Amino acid sequence: MCASTRHTGYAIGMAKPKTIYTCEACGSQFPRWMGRCTECEAWNTIVEEMVSTVAPLPPVAQGRAAAQPMRLSEVPASAGNRSSSGFAEFDRVLGGGLVPGSVILLGGDPGIGKSTLMLQVAARVAATGQSVLYATGEESAQQVKLRAERLGAGDPETFRLMAENDLERIIAAINDLRPNLVVIDSIQAISSSQLAAAPGSVSQIRHITNQLIPIAKQHLTTIGLIGHVTKEGSLAGPRVLEHMVDVVLYCEGERFRTYRLLRGVKNRFGATDEVGVFEMAEGGLVEVENPSALFLAEYEAESTGSAIIATLEGTRPMLVEVQALAYPATAAVPRRAATGYEYNRLVQLAAVFEKRLGLPLGKADVLVNVVGGLRIGEPAGDLGIAMAIISSLRGVPLTGRTVVMGEVGLAGEVRRVHQLEPRLREAAKLGFRRALVPAKNLPLRSPIPDLEVIGVDRIWDALRHLREQVTTEPAADRATAPHTGEPGPAVTVVQPARRPGRS
Ligand code: TYD
Ligand code: MG
Repeated sequence: MCASTRHTGYAIGMAKPKTIYTCEACGSQFPRWMGRCTECEAWNTIVEEMVSTVAPLPPVAQGRAAAQPMRLSEVPASAGNRSSSGFAEFDRVLGGGLVPGSVILLGGDPGIGKSTLMLQVAARVAATGQSVLYATGEESAQQVKLRAERLGAGDPETFRLMAENDLERIIAAINDLRPNLVVIDSIQAISSSQLAAAPGSVSQIRHITNQLIPIAKQHLTTIGLIGHVTKEGSLAGPRVLEHMVDVVLYCEGERFRTYRLLRGVKNRFGATDEVGVFEMAEGGLVEVENPSALFLAEYEAESTGSAIIATLEGTRPMLVEVQALAYPATAAVPRRAATGYEYNRLVQLAAVFEKRLGLPLGKADVLVNVVGGLRIGEPAGDLGIAMAIISSLRGVPLTGRTVVMGEVGLAGEVRRVHQLEPRLREAAKLGFRRALVPAKNLPLRSPIPDLEVIGVDRIWDALRHLREQVTTEPAADRATAPHTGEPGPAVTVVQPARRPGRS
């Protein structure tokens, strides 16, 4: 009667489907609907799904023959041989290249460039003579062709394109072609007719991934799954998929900025937290070899309320400008806001200023912004943010081209950062001549040419490196209103008579 069996809830030969309730955030399943998931405690994430529970799934993965225990020496070596994705930045995040038989999940907001990136990777891999299957459930073959032409992908002999929503047909094509690389664009757009659940539902994407993993292992095919992120910032059923696949990558960036970060959050074959940097250009994504230069492009050394910090993304140092604006509070409760920096750390820094330095931050609103839309996830940015706040409060810039790094503790002490030397080398490479670093990190194992490295123990030691010399007399005027204008002659930054934290 109805042509589509999928949407009626029945598939031929299957048992009567029953209704279950699945949490879209963690994948947990329940017999009845609830407002809050009892597993992950997320609100409003539980959706109703129709699933067939009894019908056995066909053994798609016939080839699970390697179930016999083997000696390590008997394991075929080819399983570990990586091949390049065609992008050094992509290879870096993967830990050296595509691993045959691995399943990679690439997540990101719609429109961020996932399809673009994977199409470019597919074309580059195909250009080396390896066979590639690009299965799209979102666009027509014509659309993909147009895009490939715009990306200058050419028409490699070994590149195959398939506009298809049906998992079983895609699997048939994989079994037929046995490609080196398969791209599924996107996991939410395809569905299996074995399952009554709607495309994009947790049951579907879990089922699809379950079906594809053994196929990847069997044919030693690398499978890239593209997944859209929901507006809450997570993949639909993220935990379900994240623990199933070998590698999880996220494509990040601001829609209206050109750069894109490819971040590894899980990698069974390499380090996580690596990042690759790309720029979205006319002809698709272009690798950025020197991201610091990109993030510092608009930096002006003379501006107040600005500091350069050296942050580490994975193993990669990046120089980023941080900005602060401090101005007299507009309400009784001072406002703190941070973009790209943890709000709680900003509140903590402001409290340290107030208590340890006697700075009247309790009467100032403070805004902090990490330029370029980057997020600083490590405490090593604290000292730089602190310098930017003081620079803004006093209306004086930092001296010269200085890079700042260090964690600030509650006693005002500057705590050590890990991997100092790569950060310093990156700063020297970009023409910085002075670095304020935690004294506890010194001495360096080897000096960095052309870079003066200054160790600071306490946050007030760092203040000397503001352009104007800081008075070190005891607090005379703690009630001084914060000002953003020209530096006043009065004591605006004071040092406590007795240094707390040493006690
Ligand atoms: P897309 O890869 O379709 O995003 P996703 O698959 O993550 O949803 O990226 C689409 C965006 O990229 C779109 O806004 C246009 C832009 N774009 C370029 O700027 N240059 C290009 O060469 C291409 C192909 C896309
Ligand atoms: Mg897409």
